[in-house]
Formats: sequence, structure tokens, C-alpha cells
Amino acid sequence: MSFRYIGSKSRLISQIARYMGPPEHGSFFVDGFCGTGVVAEAAAELGWNVRINDSLRSAVISAGARLISADQAVFKKLGGYSKAIAKLNAAKPKHGFMWREYSPASMDTCGLERRYFTQDNAARIDAMRALIGEWVEAGDVDEVEERLLIADLFGALNRVANIAGTFGCFLSKWTNQSQEKIAMRCRELKESGVRVEATVGDVFDVPNSARDLVYLDPPYTKRQYASYYHILETVALDDEPHVEGVAGLRPWKDLASDFCYKTRALKTLSRLVHSLRAQKVLLSYSSEGHICLQDMRAELSKIGTFTMHPLGAIGRYRPNKVASSAASDVNEFLVVVDRPVVQLPEEQSKIVNAIKPVLVESFA
Ligand SMILES: C[S@@+](CC[C@H](N)C(=O)[O-])C[C@H]1O[C@@H](n2cnc3c(N)ncnc32)[C@H](O)[C@@H]1O
Repeated sequence: MSFRYIGSKSRLISQIARYMGPPEHGSFFVDGFCGTGVVAEAAAELGWNVRINDSLRSAVISAGARLISADQAVFKKLGGYSKAIAKLNAAKPKHGFMWREYSPASMDTCGLERRYFTQDNAARIDAMRALIGEWVEAGDVDEVEERLLIADLFGALNRVANIAGTFGCFLSKWTNQSQEKIAMRCRELKESGVRVEATVGDVFDVPNSARDLVYLDPPYTKRQYASYYHILETVALDDEPHVEGVAGLRPWKDLASDFCYKTRALKTLSRLVHSLRAQKVLLSYSSEGHICLQDMRAELSKIGTFTMHPLGAIGRYRPNKVASSAASDVNEFLVVVDRPVVQLPEEQSKIVNAIKPVLVESFA
């Protein structure tokens, strides 16, 4: 996947994968904050069944699309994957929500000229998203194919978005890339699939068992993903929310993450690790995050054996060139918590087992 995502582990993935080990029969690699899904994808390549979760539907769609195999997305009714993509690229531009709110046409809508997309590209995004919806309605694509196409649309719109990496705001001057005509592309699908379960929701609600390997990669700064990636979320949900301000944010506060508040991050993390059933937990974090390593060690050592592995330097996520020249590198590390198997009291087990994921897909 081509787009830039705050905190993505794409550059550290080979180092993280070393700590995954081989899967036990029937167990899952549980990626509770899956983001782009690059870590879950590496686990799947090692043969793990994977369970992906994120509070953003757009993230779960992106992550899930990385795991789709060719036999799961044959697009039988549309004549194949590449024909479906060609039809989307040829869809007649439509003056819909993206055009009204996120292109210069927004001047007439709300008196603010938002420059996320050119008018032509925004109208094409509207047309592409609408056509995917029509295919779903008509039964021409199934759920896996639908999510693959939405993820491909994310890729395409990211390539022409007039932004500095996130949708937190648009750039005042148009970039050269943003002037190009949006075009969706086919991705390379996996040759074979592992078992995948996907949920959209709070990490606390993700089922896990003693034999699973739980990977946690929570946000570590105050940047709230729900606001930084609001446009992707709107495309994923295909709704027309009331958007506000210069950036045209959809309401996002109900998705605000406790991990983004310095005062709550440690307590929330400790509560989360305590609540897990898995014996082994991997946790990615940064030395520049809200929680300092000493405090994390003190707290998580109460739960199990705590070991910390520095992963070397990763370039800081740089929203613009000015910040880039001033910034030092962020140091990422991986914590392994090995905990004794916990038998949950019967009442608590019932609650865990009763959790119904909002979006679930499961295929062998
Ligand atoms: C650091 S990013 C994960 C990056 C991911 N590992 C990757 O390599 O792309 C953190 C993710 O956590 C999600 N998130 C934040 N709070 C959450 C919560 N309480 N439950 C589930 N997901 C959450 C965000 O939407 C974001 O996608």
C-alpha cells in the first residue's frame, strides 16, 4: 500500500517479525491496533491466522485488503478484478459529497475553499465510491471484493490528495501530483490465504486466548487518527456527515483514543495488558511517546516478565520539510511481556465470549 500512515511499522517490519515465532496450531496473531496492517501481513506470511482490529473502519479495510488472496476476489460478475478497476476508472464524474466538501466547489457549499482534491478528481472519487455501492446493492461484488475495491480507492485518492501526508489539513498550494487524474490500480493479491478475522472497535473488546500472540501498537502522541484520516473514514463509511472548520472534519471525538492523552496513556495500557488472556504480548512504542520507558517497565512488570528490544531509528513522521530538517529520529522499541496463563473468573469469561464484533470476516 502506498500511503503514509502515522506510526506505520513498514520500515521496522522485518525486525518485529523476528519476535513473532512460528504459530501454534489454531492460535491467532492478534493485531489490536492494526493501522495499515503491515504487521498482520508479516504474521500471515509466517503462517499465523490473524485477527485484525482498529477503531477506524478505514484502517481495518486497508489492513484486510493486504491479506486477500486471488481466489477470494475473482469478481466473477464483473469479468475479473482488472475489468472492475477499469470500470471504476471510467465512471462518469459525479458532483457528490467529496466534490461539495473537499474540492474548491466547497466555496459554494460553505464559503471555504478546501483544496484536498481538484474538482475533477473529487467528482471521480464520488463516482467510484457510488459505483462500488451500486455493485454491492446489485449483488455484483461480495464483501471481500467490496473491501478490496474501497482499499484500492484509498490508494488512488491518496496519490492525488493535496496534503502533506495526512488529511489533518490540505495544502494551500496545489502539488503537481494533485493535478494528475485519479486512477485506481489492481494490487497483487496473495497466492493463498490464512484465516482472517476482522473487527472494527475498541482494542479492549478484541477476543484473545492464552495461546494467541497479541501485538499492540497504540498511538503514542496526541495525534488522533480519527481526525487525521477523516476523509478515508468517510469514504469507508460512505456517509455524508456534517463536517466543520477549515479542514472539514467529520465528528471524530467519540473515536478519540485514550492513548493520545499523556495523563491517561499509561493507566490505559496497563489496564489493557491486564485484561488480555494471551500469554505473550508484543508491544511497539517510541521513546518519544507519552509513556516513559521506566514507568512502562514498572507497570507492566507487575503483569509478566518484561523485556525491551530497541529496534533502531525510524525516520520521524514528517508532515512537512521544515519539521523534517528540525526533527531528530524517533527511537522505536519492542516490548515483550510474557505472562502466566490467567484463568478469568467465570463471569468475566462470559462477557468476553459474548462480544459481537461490528465487522467480522472469516475465511480459511
Ligand atoms: C500506531 S498506529 C498502528 C500502526 C500499525 N501497526 C501499522 O504498522 O500500520 C495506531 C492505530 O491505533 C488505532 N487506535 C487508536 N486507539 C484505538 C483503540 N482504543 N482501539 C483500537 N484501535 C485504536 C488508530 O486508529 C491507529 O490506526
